[in-house]
Amino acid sequence: MNKQLNLGPPIDELLDRLYAQHASQSEAMESYYTTRAKESSLDWNTMDARMNEFLSDKLVALDRNKAEFCYQVCRSLRARRIVEAGTSFGVSTLFLAAAVRDNVGAAGGKGIVVATEHEPNKVKAARANFAEAGLVQFIELREGDLRQTLADVGGPVDFMLVDIWTPMARPALELVAHRLREGAVVICDNTEQFRYAYNDYFAFVNDPANKLRTMTLPFEGGLEFTVRCG
Ligand SMILES: C[S@@+](CC[C@H](N)C(=O)[O-])C[C@H]1O[C@@H](n2cnc3c(N)ncnc32)[C@H](O)[C@@H]1O
Repeated sequence: MNKQLNLGPPIDELLDRLYAQHASQSEAMESYYTTRAKESSLDWNTMDARMNEFLSDKLVALDRNKAEFCYQVCRSLRARRIVEAGTSFGVSTLFLAAAVRDNVGAAGGKGIVVATEHEPNKVKAARANFAEAGLVQFIELREGDLRQTLADVGGPVDFMLVDIWTPMARPALELVAHRLREGAVVICDNTEQFRYAYNDYFAFVNDPANKLRTMTLPFEGGLEFTVRCG
């Protein structure tokens, strides 16, 4: 039985609140997806304007067990430079920044999570959450479209989280791949559930030129665990 990860009182209280907010939105989301599915108008390959509008105020946070797993991997890698594609209200970012805080606390030096989000209201909420958590110094939140904001993330990158609308997963990884150090890990969410929408992502990951090796871990929806080899 897993014991829930404790990241410190202000962060744990904040996460409980954010996950409660996330849960309170799930009924509306289910009903929206059901309606769109009945209309046969749901396409995860393109994510139309209507869908983007509906999701513009939703947390769509990474599941807690997956976020805790990311924390563990970042501790194991002693990650100092982390990139996150898809920040929303900053739930997953809090786990990643706490890992950087703890890695730096254990061995000294500096570390950063380069995060990005293009919805202004989510950026505002995320910044407030980072301040409340006391993790501001470990996060550089870049506001805007990741195709611009992740053009230069510095390096070497130890860990990347791809938790973004599916059409943006490959562009995000493509921008960061050349910065991944050997042994770096890239996690991507729901790769089993939305396998068809990730076709182009898998084409990139499985291209030998990119020196990546991948497996889908059996978390709900599938969690892609990709390692830079060489
Ligand atoms: C699944 S949510 C991220 C959830 C977050 N990782 C968490 O655990 O709370 C994906 C986010 O990516 C953002 N997004 C989608 N397309 C984007 C783009 N082109 N550039 C930047 N952010 C984008 C969405 O606004 C949304 O908030």
